[in-house]
Amino acid sequence: MTHISVIGCGYLGAVHAAAMASVGHTVIGVDTDTQKLQKLENYQPPFFEPGLAELLEAGQAEQSAGNEGADGTSQRLLFTSDISRAAEASVHFICVGTPQSQDSNAADMTYVNSAINDLMPHLKPGDLVVGKSTVPVGSAAELAKKVAPTGAKLAWNPEFLREGHAVEDTLRPDRIIYGVESGSEDDPAVAILDQVYAHNLRGGEAGAAGEVGVAGEAGAVTPRIVMDYQTAELVKTAANSFLATKISFINAMAELCETAGGDVAVLADAIGMDKRIGRRFLNAGLGFGGGCLPKDIRAFIARADELGVEQAVSFLREVDSINLRRRARMVDLTREALGGDLSGKRIAVLGIAFKPNTDDVRDSPALDVAERLEQAGAQVVITDPEAIENARRRDPELTYAPDLTEALTGADGVVLLTEWPQYKNLDPVAAGELVAQKIIVDGRNVVDRRAYREAGWTVRGLGRQE
Ligand code: UGA
Repeated sequence: MTHISVIGCGYLGAVHAAAMASVGHTVIGVDTDTQKLQKLENYQPPFFEPGLAELLEAGQAEQSAGNEGADGTSQRLLFTSDISRAAEASVHFICVGTPQSQDSNAADMTYVNSAINDLMPHLKPGDLVVGKSTVPVGSAAELAKKVAPTGAKLAWNPEFLREGHAVEDTLRPDRIIYGVESGSEDDPAVAILDQVYAHNLRGGEAGAAGEVGVAGEAGAVTPRIVMDYQTAELVKTAANSFLATKISFINAMAELCETAGGDVAVLADAIGMDKRIGRRFLNAGLGFGGGCLPKDIRAFIARADELGVEQAVSFLREVDSINLRRRARMVDLTREALGGDLSGKRIAVLGIAFKPNTDDVRDSPALDVAERLEQAGAQVVITDPEAIENARRRDPELTYAPDLTEALTGADGVVLLTEWPQYKNLDPVAAGELVAQKIIVDGRNVVDRRAYREAGWTVRGLGRQE
């Protein structure tokens, strides 16, 4: 088993730390955010993520050769603000954020750079620093040079977890990528990483993992691919760019359907049956948001520009524009549905998170649309099962309702912006008794249109006819 440190305990790091502990490694998670740490120190998730609470709880287990806690006990998983404790570990995962810069499209590398700077005094020869953050191509080679004087090596091991499925994706990824200095299988970093990911590489047999019952069951062996730093960095950026492009492609088709006539949902089902295309990530609607896809495609454009190959990814500008146009269209469609004027209209907003099963509102299309509706004179009343507190922090001016009933009561129109199951499966008859007018604009094309119409509702959707 390996002694691991995880620097940065956000959506990526906290889940990674807990997952690594659940398969038997000794893990020390380091973060500077005191609020987040307070929760993690008590093995409570600092954000909503299905399955994380159970994983953290498993990490609380004492073990003889674990992290020495302040009370003298020895824990498998420990969280601290004291980065000097990373000295006890030999593999150090960098999991800090790379948000969009304040003044440009480029990725802000401040947190990565300071994590490395803070870690440097605690590195020793033979240690491996493993980058997981999404960084511009070329960063890993620079960082490897930086850590070299300590005798430590560097690897790039991008992460592909989706929020809302982070635990499953971390424990059972589709593939594992090792970007190593030599780019080859015999690089010393490969053997170290193989130990870290042994539970995936041997197909999740019972072992230490079985003890905590999280990743212990037998499963398929995860493919792992060894490559150079640049390819590893690009795998991550290319994957997110492809997903964003797929979503914007179907949303561009939605624009066509809106003017030419046609139904984008039927179109998606039909083209998705072609195995070369595939139906996943072809859901037309409000488009993509969150802390990854939007900023990653912008950072990719910015990096390509720096490298003098801007043309190669200039299509991503259009991907971004199509995505943002959907938000404006959603407001127009709501206005149309409500008879041409939004002023003074009470609108129930169902969902404010950037997607279901998360409390994350970073670059949330739902929050953007809610703000635009309010600016257009409507009185929005927002509800969401998990994301209200985060949304309120970002936009305290908006009105939030703790539950569906309060949001729907007296509404002149309903807009569905995040497809939480409880909104998707809302009973149109019961909901119809609460609202003032039975008008719903489905921003995610998920409701049963026929059932709504039978219950007397007017239903509008992006990329679909009335
Ligand atoms: C994304 C990638 O899917 C992960 O593989 C990656 O690890 C992660 O970014 C990251 O870089 O950290 P995530 O941001 O959690 O994961 O969310 P997704 O499930 O990819 O959804 C992104 C957005 O696309 C959401 O707003 C969602 O509503 C939207 N979407 C998704 C659509 O509009 N249509 C679809 O068909 C699918």
